[in-house]
Amino acid sequence: MPDTAELEARLAALQAEVGPLATLGEKDLEAAEVRLLGRKQGALTEILKQLPGLPPEGKRAIGAEANRVKQALEAAVAARREALVAEARAAEARAQDRTMPGRDRWTGAVHPTTAVMEEIVGIFNGLGFARATGPEVETEWFNFRALNFPADHPAMDMHDTLYLDLPERRRGDDRRANRSSGVGDHERRGVPDRRVRPEGRYLMRTHTSPVQVRVLLHNPPPVRVVIPGWVYRKDTFDASHAPVFAQIEGLAVDEGISFVDLKATLAHFARAFFGSKTAVRFRPSFFPFTEPSAEMDVSCGVCGGSGCPACKGSGWMEILGAGMVHPHVLANCGVDPERYTGFAFGMGPQRIAMNRHGIHDIRLFYEGDMRFLGQFAGGVTP
Ligand code: DAH
Repeated sequence: MPDTAELEARLAALQAEVGPLATLGEKDLEAAEVRLLGRKQGALTEILKQLPGLPPEGKRAIGAEANRVKQALEAAVAARREALVAEARAAEARAQDRTMPGRDRWTGAVHPTTAVMEEIVGIFNGLGFARATGPEVETEWFNFRALNFPADHPAMDMHDTLYLDLPERRRGDDRRANRSSGVGDHERRGVPDRRVRPEGRYLMRTHTSPVQVRVLLHNPPPVRVVIPGWVYRKDTFDASHAPVFAQIEGLAVDEGISFVDLKATLAHFARAFFGSKTAVRFRPSFFPFTEPSAEMDVSCGVCGGSGCPACKGSGWMEILGAGMVHPHVLANCGVDPERYTGFAFGMGPQRIAMNRHGIHDIRLFYEGDMRFLGQFAGGVTP
């Protein structure tokens, strides 16, 4: 026989559980719901199971009270569940704050040195100059001797040139040339026999001019090439010197080429690169591999020629060396200097980019600082 008083006490205990439900987390709330309201073994079900055994009086009283406690528990569970859902939504909204600024996305870009080199090569391509390249490890013969440097020229000094610690090469190392045209062919064209030609020491090329020699050895005139590349000098890094820097060489050899062709070609280049209003001037100069030799200046792009700090007040900026290919160079390459003439030029694209953009330190091209590079990258895509 169930005890009415005992059931009343159990209901009172269940009623006391209503309040604390409001503090439970999701898992605890579910467990409490099963424990209190579960249909099979919940505390309330256990009480209701006793009802049939109670006297009518008790049945009514306990039944009514059990119903009230059940509703209170159910309401508290539902309220707590709703509160938990609202809390989760609020947390999610905090996690994805739509008012926050977006993350920057960076797009890769061509390095400014490469971009300027390609722009320059492109202008000469438009004039019919083909791209040519050559090795960065050269021999004394290609880098100096074939280019008419005298044996004691200061540029060959250990001071300026990085020599490689390799045994000297006594014979020609240019096997591809031997294969394509044959040693006999070069002998007929007057090239020093590469079987006895002293190549001299190995070195890192100090300029792109040896590629002139390689191109002429492999290709009979007419020849028009533009030669981009990296060159090496025993310099320490400072604002205006780098031990590795870019050069662009040009070479045109044909019958009847004169200094007029040189001037017209380079003036066209200057206007295509710096703008149609650019003035050019040629000053006499000296290089062992050209005769006569010249340096070309362009009117300062910053002040337009009136004089400013960028051009050191002169109104002009020197951008390249050039000249008519020396007859000795043509002969060294097996080209008949009686029949053919040519012009050559060489420039430093990094210095040209510095002039154009007002960059005062060449080291910026080597440091990979995104604050610098980003200015040439077309910016940031958000
Ligand atoms: N090779 C020279 C240098 O490194 C640049 C140069 C000057 C190249 C005159 C040429 C030229 O082809 O004609 O400074």
